[in-house]
Amino acid sequence: MKRDLIDVKDLTKEEILQILALTARLKKDRFLMPEALKHKSVGLVFQKPSNRTRVSFEVGIKQLGGECVYLSPSEINLGVRETTEDVARTLSRYFDAIVARVNYNKDVLALAKYASIPVINGLCDMYHPCQALTDLFSVMEKFPKLTDVTVSYIGDGNNVCHSLLMCCAKIGVDIKIATPAGYEPNVNVIMAAKAVAKENGSDIVITHSPIEGVKDVDVIYSDVWVSMGQEVETQQRIRDFQNFQINKDLVKHAKENYIFMHCLPAHRGQEVTGEIIDGPHSIVFDQAENRLHTQKAVMIFLAGN
Ligand code: CP
Ligand code: NVA
Repeated sequence: MKRDLIDVKDLTKEEILQILALTARLKKDRFLMPEALKHKSVGLVFQKPSNRTRVSFEVGIKQLGGECVYLSPSEINLGVRETTEDVARTLSRYFDAIVARVNYNKDVLALAKYASIPVINGLCDMYHPCQALTDLFSVMEKFPKLTDVTVSYIGDGNNVCHSLLMCCAKIGVDIKIATPAGYEPNVNVIMAAKAVAKENGSDIVITHSPIEGVKDVDVIYSDVWVSMGQEVETQQRIRDFQNFQINKDLVKHAKENYIFMHCLPAHRGQEVTGEIIDGPHSIVFDQAENRLHTQKAVMIFLAGN
């Protein structure tokens, strides 16, 4: 039976640890397993722009001996030019897996339902699982004992936050999330994560106080205030998030050896100041690099030879 990766919750804790262990091996040797995707083709269906996700998947697929085809928003135009169901059924006749970046979670769910091949979510409005798996790997490189770590996410409680929350809950990492009122994570995601965190002995704190959010944490994580597709809300969001900037005053509340993380793209002067993202605590480009290694492990897990 084929498996999809719509969010981190689709994987067991053991499977996540297995993927992270394979990621470490692939990072040590980029040309390990050069035939893992031999004679396989992957379709990259993108309804939104991308730098990291598209490029790291394309390069990773080629390093594993596979082929890929990038399909831009104007080519597939999910649900407009033809139904998502028909796109899924058609692409299943050509490809061995699909990576999809879509506007709405329902679109990636429909692709997964009607495709006979694995569908990997490359970001939707609700989740960004490849990012979260990469992020946990990146945290582990700095703090190998993950269960001693507290992660802090400051910003909008949407896709990146949801997947990070679930990934921390699965691995047993404590997480604190600070958002402005009205931008909290989805209630169902919080409830699901709390149930998983209880099984794994980790804590989840949701607050509206950025200072409480970063107090004594090891990791400070930030994302843009205006996600792709929300551009008309820019002015309102800049006002609503102004107290949630990661700057030198806020980071004083974290542990001295904290690390700063960001999924990128970043907006210096909005969610983070230049001195923090470009400073000595920042690991944002390690994260960007690690997308390559983690996604190769994910593809081997879901679609490898
Ligand atoms: N972090 C991330 O997914 O980046 P892109 O939007 O550039 O793919
Ligand atoms: N929350 C951001 C993440 C980009 C990787 C967005 O959806 O645009």
